[in-house]
Amino acid sequence: MKKVEQSESKSRFASLLLKWNKEKNDRQMPWKGEKDPYKIWLSEIILQQTRVEQGLSYYNAFIKTFPDVHKLAKAPDAKVFKLWEGLGYYTRCRNLLITARFISKEKKGVFPDSYETIKELKGIGPYTAAAISSFAFNLPHAVVDGNVFRVLARVFGIATPTDTTEGKKMFTALAEELLDRKQPGLYNQAIMDFGATVCKPAAPLCSDCIFKKHCVAFNNDLIATLPVKEKKITVKQRWFYYLMMEYKNEVAIVQRTGKDIWKDLFEFPLIEVTKEMNEKNIIKQLNMKEWFATADYTIENISPLFKQQLSHQSISGKFITIKLKRKIKLKSDWRLVTKERLKNFAFPQFINQYLKTK
Ligand code: ADE
Repeated sequence: MKKVEQSESKSRFASLLLKWNKEKNDRQMPWKGEKDPYKIWLSEIILQQTRVEQGLSYYNAFIKTFPDVHKLAKAPDAKVFKLWEGLGYYTRCRNLLITARFISKEKKGVFPDSYETIKELKGIGPYTAAAISSFAFNLPHAVVDGNVFRVLARVFGIATPTDTTEGKKMFTALAEELLDRKQPGLYNQAIMDFGATVCKPAAPLCSDCIFKKHCVAFNNDLIATLPVKEKKITVKQRWFYYLMMEYKNEVAIVQRTGKDIWKDLFEFPLIEVTKEMNEKNIIKQLNMKEWFATADYTIENISPLFKQQLSHQSISGKFITIKLKRKIKLKSDWRLVTKERLKNFAFPQFINQYLKTK
């Protein structure tokens, strides 16, 4: 695009977007127009974990259970984790609690009201700080999320990879330049809605698009090419064999620790390997663990295969029901709970998928 054309399309960008927002945007979400920074913060943290349709029920449950920051701050960890169950990436949930407790105690419940002070909060990066400061306080900070990368890369024909320092800088600068400084909250919401409903990743609605005349990607057949990412994601294959060690009506569970997925969630004692195993190999692995003697158990059932795809890992696994013939000595971090009580513990979705079939 020539320089003159580009500056013309830049100057018209915000007004076209806001016109679309007023006339065509019918996306409804409970946090839209919300001014309470606590509620906005909750919605944005939840939406970093899931799509809007699925995020809705989590948002409603959180707001109902914890209508203000003090209620969230006072809640026991386990209760909040239970409500977060299914969203994954529990670091976000832990940070949510740290920040709620900080605001409740150190700030007497008053949410910080500048971009810089909001960004200092644990678990809040540039995106969330821009969202909260523009939606709640109408401060002129542009959000830059996946929607914004996609819309700007396509409309302005930018092939700089979005996952590089240079790309982030460039897109952020352009986003700030385009922002409607009088209505930053409205503008930010509009560009995200536009990206989610019109300039979609696949099958965007180009023929109906307000930017059709100027969109570099549309006019140069680059819709499928833009935006560009530099890094190919490598996906690690993990195989989880969970042991449902049953003694009478009780089963052994253990809390995950360490720097890994699902930290702090509960699970069943696990054998993790990098390849699929047949029953013979499972028994071999089990014997190597020396959790109990061969004579102490029988394998009652091996479940069908379960799978879960995370962004950087592919988890496959099975659940092996083991009947213990006598009460064994448990490892120190295991605990025996009755099957009825399992629902009181937060498990990863991977395990819930299985428990639902029981
Ligand atoms: N994704 C994350 N936050 C959003 C918001 N406020 N509106 C639409 N999509 C979003």
